[in-house]
Amino acid sequence: MAGYKLEVTTGDMTNAGTFDHIYVTLIGTGGRSERTELDNFGVDFNTGMTSIYTVKTCSSLGKLLLVNVEKDPYFCLPENQWYCSKIVVTTPEGDVILFPCYRWISRGELVELRGGRAMKVFEDDHPLLIDHRKKELTIKKTLYQWEITDERLLHNSNFKNISELPAEDCFSLSKTIELGYQKQITDAELMFKGLTGSTEQWESIEDIKKIFWFKTTKMSEYVTEHWKEDDFYGYQFLNGINPNVIKKCSELPPNFPVTEEMVKPFLDKGSSLQKEMENGNIFLCDLKRMDGLPTRVCDGEPLHITAGLCLFYMNPENKLMPIAIQLNQQPSEQNPIFLPSDTETDWLLAKMFIKNADSMLHQSVYHLMNTHYLAEVFTVATLRSFPVVHPLYKLLIPHFRYTLQINIMARDSIFGPDGILSTSSLGYEGLTELMRRALSETTYSSLCLPENITARGLMSIPNFYYRDDGLKLWNIINRFVKATVGYYYPSDKEVRKDTELQEWISEIFTHGFLGNKASGCPAGFYTVEEVIKFITMVIFTVSAQHAAVNSGQFDYQSWVPNGSLLLCKPPPNTKGQSSMKTILETLPNVGHTVNIAAMLWVLSEMYTDVVPLGTYPEEQFNEPVPKQMINRFQAELSHLKGVIITRNSQLEVPYKYLNPTQIENSITI
Ligand code: FE2
Repeated sequence: MAGYKLEVTTGDMTNAGTFDHIYVTLIGTGGRSERTELDNFGVDFNTGMTSIYTVKTCSSLGKLLLVNVEKDPYFCLPENQWYCSKIVVTTPEGDVILFPCYRWISRGELVELRGGRAMKVFEDDHPLLIDHRKKELTIKKTLYQWEITDERLLHNSNFKNISELPAEDCFSLSKTIELGYQKQITDAELMFKGLTGSTEQWESIEDIKKIFWFKTTKMSEYVTEHWKEDDFYGYQFLNGINPNVIKKCSELPPNFPVTEEMVKPFLDKGSSLQKEMENGNIFLCDLKRMDGLPTRVCDGEPLHITAGLCLFYMNPENKLMPIAIQLNQQPSEQNPIFLPSDTETDWLLAKMFIKNADSMLHQSVYHLMNTHYLAEVFTVATLRSFPVVHPLYKLLIPHFRYTLQINIMARDSIFGPDGILSTSSLGYEGLTELMRRALSETTYSSLCLPENITARGLMSIPNFYYRDDGLKLWNIINRFVKATVGYYYPSDKEVRKDTELQEWISEIFTHGFLGNKASGCPAGFYTVEEVIKFITMVIFTVSAQHAAVNSGQFDYQSWVPNGSLLLCKPPPNTKGQSSMKTILETLPNVGHTVNIAAMLWVLSEMYTDVVPLGTYPEEQFNEPVPKQMINRFQAELSHLKGVIITRNSQLEVPYKYLNPTQIENSITI
């Protein structure tokens, strides 16, 4: 007789346990065990519990290959799904083998678990394992499919609503309840004050402060007080929620005829624009991508957006100051260049229109498309191309938790034709066209932070905390990926032989970059180095980059004048005609303002079941080496946390969005 010890762990989420009968069959190279019920005295599969069982066989089963798990009903009780986390088997020979499961098992289902070392396709040599691998991928490819909703946009998953999603891809019950609760209290608070649906214009800027009774953050209060100040305006192009647009300017674009005379009063005494450009102190935000986009029609009139240009000066106090704004691409008399010396409201309006365009670009391109939708492409490609025993599945899958569900919700209530963003100045059609334009120009290199920063000439601009923290994170993630990928791919030969890996990148190239070679996205991998860089980009995008563009939304934009998605009047085309009344008429009405603020509240909350970057509650790897890499990764992140906290303690406006404890492992909100 031989005995196999099984340690069976039930998930710790609500309702993970079951009363049903659980059976296992162990399959090895030398035969299979009887179908054996796991049944100890008392309750067996309680939430969060690990129970120990013994499966007896006549003799050793040889090398253990698979564990089959089945669930049968207990009497005639209704369906009672079980979330099995993992089974650890100790063989009679003393080997300890992890069989990760991490999925819900329904009645009558037979789940075949693969355990042991992570294996690439060409390493499987037993016919049973080869067959299991093929079967698993066939099932996954049927379940997870690509859906093309727009020929010029990234493809998405085939799941149109949450009820179609496999249970393991859904939010936990606690997250669902909290998210619902958060939305409810926000709605209730606003309705209670009679603001939701109100078409009234704001009577004064001060009135906007009354939107939220008990929801403010230190940062949102700071924004409320400082939003009009030029240095804080410039600061936000580096460390606000859209640090992605500004570039060094060594030569003025020909369509932006700023003269020395215009900006001289705002430069250092005795200096000139030419000199400051040569010294690398002039920067530009050029919103030409917005030019000619269709806008939303409101009360029979099309709304206006600006494809503007804003010039910045990094002054000797290391403050980035806006010094000239032109609100449309083509210079003309009706398109004056606004200056800080214009009337307060002219200058404020010009800044507000630049921020309006920047906000729409931020939401549709830098937040939704470049993080959420790209993450969905990575997720679907991973689920379709890698079996669970593949080392890159084990490495990547924790970084895609909840992404399919949040994107279904985003397409429905935020970005869809009836979503909140459809009430922006561009509306659904304009935002969609903006995303199409942006995707056709998106490059792989722009998604890699070190190259992005270099290409924009921002390597040495001072007080750029997004860059400082982001590059440190990029390097930490890169070291972790290099160690892990290098362990499983000792040479380029393994990369070229791995047909599953080649299929994975080919799917991303086709469905994420629409097969556009000019994007620079690889269609196949030839070297280990290429794989390491790409996976670094994937993990950075779904964790750090998403945090940078997502977490500060309430902080920066709940105070709607600081970056409104909707402006109701045309931009000024002459100087000296505006007043505070113009500003109030330009801002969205009360109902629109509170809708936008409520959305930002829900999207910026931290929910209780967050998994911070580098935390892997699911044990995917059996072998010790990747576990050591994870420990090192966590130690480096923890050190960075300390560095950021110390730095922030010296700052008037702390930059906290890339503190590793504030970054989630995946896109979940
Ligand atoms: Fe998000």
